Amino acid sequence: MIRSVVLTVIFSCTSLLTVFAGEGMWLPLLLKALNEEEMQGMGMKMSAEDIYSVNQGSLKDAIAHFGGFCTSEVISDQGLLLTNHHCGYSEIQSHSTLENNYLKDGFWADSKGDELPNPGLFAKFIERIEDVSAIILEGTENVTTDAERNSIIDKNITAYKATLKLAKFRDIEIKPFFNTNQYFAFITISYPDVRLVGAPPESIGKFGADTDNWEWPRHTGDFALFRIYADENNEPAEYSPNNVAYAPKHSLPISLDGVEEGDFTLVFGFPGRTRQYLPSHAVKQTLEVLNPAKIQIRENALDIVGKKMREDAEIKLKYASKFASIANYWKKWIGESLGLEKTNALDKKRAFEKELVSRNPEVKRYLKEFDQYYSEIEPYALVKDYYSEISGRNVELLRVASITKRLLDRYENNGEDAYNGFAQRVIPFFESLYKNYDPNVDKLVFESLIEMYKENLDAKYVPAGLRGSAQALADKVYSNSILADGDKLLSLLKGAPKDAMSMLSNDAGYQLYTDWSALYNEKAATKYSAINAKIDSLQRLYMKSQMLAFPEKKFYPDANSTMRVTYGQVNGYEPKDGVWYNPVTSLGGVIAKYVPDDYEFDVHPKLIELYQDKDYGQYADSEGKMPVCFLGSNHTTGGNSGSPAIDAYGNLIGLNFDRVWEGTMSDINYDKSICRNIMVDARYILFVIDKFANAGHLIDEMQLVNPKSSNINLINPTDDGKTCCKDGSNCGNCDSSMCTPDGLCKTCKKCMKKGKPCKKHKNCCKS
Ligand code: ARG
Ligand code: GLU
Repeated sequence: MIRSVVLTVIFSCTSLLTVFAGEGMWLPLLLKALNEEEMQGMGMKMSAEDIYSVNQGSLKDAIAHFGGFCTSEVISDQGLLLTNHHCGYSEIQSHSTLENNYLKDGFWADSKGDELPNPGLFAKFIERIEDVSAIILEGTENVTTDAERNSIIDKNITAYKATLKLAKFRDIEIKPFFNTNQYFAFITISYPDVRLVGAPPESIGKFGADTDNWEWPRHTGDFALFRIYADENNEPAEYSPNNVAYAPKHSLPISLDGVEEGDFTLVFGFPGRTRQYLPSHAVKQTLEVLNPAKIQIRENALDIVGKKMREDAEIKLKYASKFASIANYWKKWIGESLGLEKTNALDKKRAFEKELVSRNPEVKRYLKEFDQYYSEIEPYALVKDYYSEISGRNVELLRVASITKRLLDRYENNGEDAYNGFAQRVIPFFESLYKNYDPNVDKLVFESLIEMYKENLDAKYVPAGLRGSAQALADKVYSNSILADGDKLLSLLKGAPKDAMSMLSNDAGYQLYTDWSALYNEKAATKYSAINAKIDSLQRLYMKSQMLAFPEKKFYPDANSTMRVTYGQVNGYEPKDGVWYNPVTSLGGVIAKYVPDDYEFDVHPKLIELYQDKDYGQYADSEGKMPVCFLGSNHTTGGNSGSPAIDAYGNLIGLNFDRVWEGTMSDINYDKSICRNIMVDARYILFVIDKFANAGHLIDEMQLVNPKSSNINLINPTDDGKTCCKDGSNCGNCDSSMCTPDGLCKTCKKCMKKGKPCKKHKNCCKS
């Protein structure tokens, strides 16, 4: 059965498509079977093998998971790594002080010796992907309970991993797809020495900040540069001053030719989480119950923190990153709900369910069960969201309490070694947390959210400690609890665990948290998990039934932080009746939004000067304007930040960093009419590095190309003249327009840099 699903997916015919070009986050190893033809039909000049190959260098070798939460790509043969400013934000912040404020002023290392190390950060590449469904699901066909199925799967995974010998910094991640109907293995290699190379000032990298976040038209230069370092054998190594710049298997050339409406775009990266195949009951709950609650909780917290940030520059610096990250999903959920409504997602889901039932009557029972389970789970899901938003996210004191509790639990359950092992990770985390902590701000958030919790949830979920006045409680906790004082807590945790246990057992903040968490577990979490397990199990069957009922449809798996390719075109959209948004913006738009000294829309004087002088160098578009951002119909989500936008030939044309507000429901229901991703134009990035920051030495490392005029791609250069340039016919056409300023043939600069000029171009520009 499972096999037949797999085969159906892979070999399904492509007529009667219900997935649109643009929709889908595809597994790179299945592109050949599922997508290549369509991609080429949309203008792509590469083959699937150029994108993902295990036998030769391919695009995938330039793509790295950045810290596990964003995407990044290698753009020079010296391991230069491009990602978003907002992805490197906490690193930039960690090197900043009020005097040396790299967030405000930007940072540019003059030479490799000035690049700044970032403990804990890593860049992870994918060496190989394998379909391991048959191995991992072996023996599960005839089991009747989920518990049994899961335990077989766990055993299979352990047994499979045991057969592999992995060198240091290599790993194998086995992940479920299509709700555990399939499994894929990802063989990875991680580089732990990743240094900060350059970042524009926030007035460029975060231009428009939260007001423009998730919005189009957009004018943010959301990029930052890092570099991967390796040991002298080009192997991953922990930070050492002796490490050298990493030599990648592939780095992306950068196109100077820019984009226009209709151009093919491919976005490569690590999308985090989507939920495309849910029943209507789940969508309804998100829309009507859970999103509104989470939005309100964050709105209250943001109002308080935002006010304090405006009053005090130090608080602004401390809270900038946290504020942005909380505001980010607050705004996203609002957009998501609006988009679900606007595109009638619920009606569409219901119509799809009807069609599904007509193809497979068995589904009727699934839907009935979903209906029951989703209504049963609703109160618990709501408490869960409240509890985790408050204690896990918005109130830092409670967040610290929860991590401290996990630490002490380790001591109680597993002894001192376990405590010390975990403390090694917790202590540095707390150190950086308290560096940016203000108990007075936190206290106000605590008070407001506790009030809200009591007001909106049934009394049975309110622990005794939370009753009474929230203000009095906040006074008591924040003046007595050691959790409000980072120095004291850290020295306690560095001492004997026994002392920490006895001290915390009398601590007002810690006790409040532990009582609350016990009540939460008893009254909500266990119940939630039990129902959720039934939903998961049903969702697996429901997913399978969708795939079997629509054999003509190509299915892509939900995002799960694994490597994916999405492709589409440069495309404007109609946000509302009668309004058309062009897909490209330019520097004139930055200047039009300029509000002097505003924390979101200030513009650096140097940028204004460059604009006035039209000093754009080779980076201007064909009309002499400086492009800034563009839109595409690529299906992206959180985690795709920092993903490269790649042209038909395999060159970098942009850097993904956001989606348009109207289309953020694409995580649940992609709609090609309004779902668009937002990218910074690669030419703006080059312009900022070169003209604004005068960091031309970084441009020299890169390989700039003009694919539209030369129509040549350089994915796989060898020293054989025929294959150096993929398009053999152009390989000999090397005239002066194809020479770089330093006298190398553009099409072969890369081969020559490697000391292996292809035969045909060996001398072509030298004369
Ligand atoms: N919305 C983008 C993403 O989801 C950018 C977020 C960073 N910017 C911000 N203002 N919070 O990550
Ligand atoms: N900014 C998002 C990120 O950090 C990408 C935008 C999205 O969710 O599409 O991954």
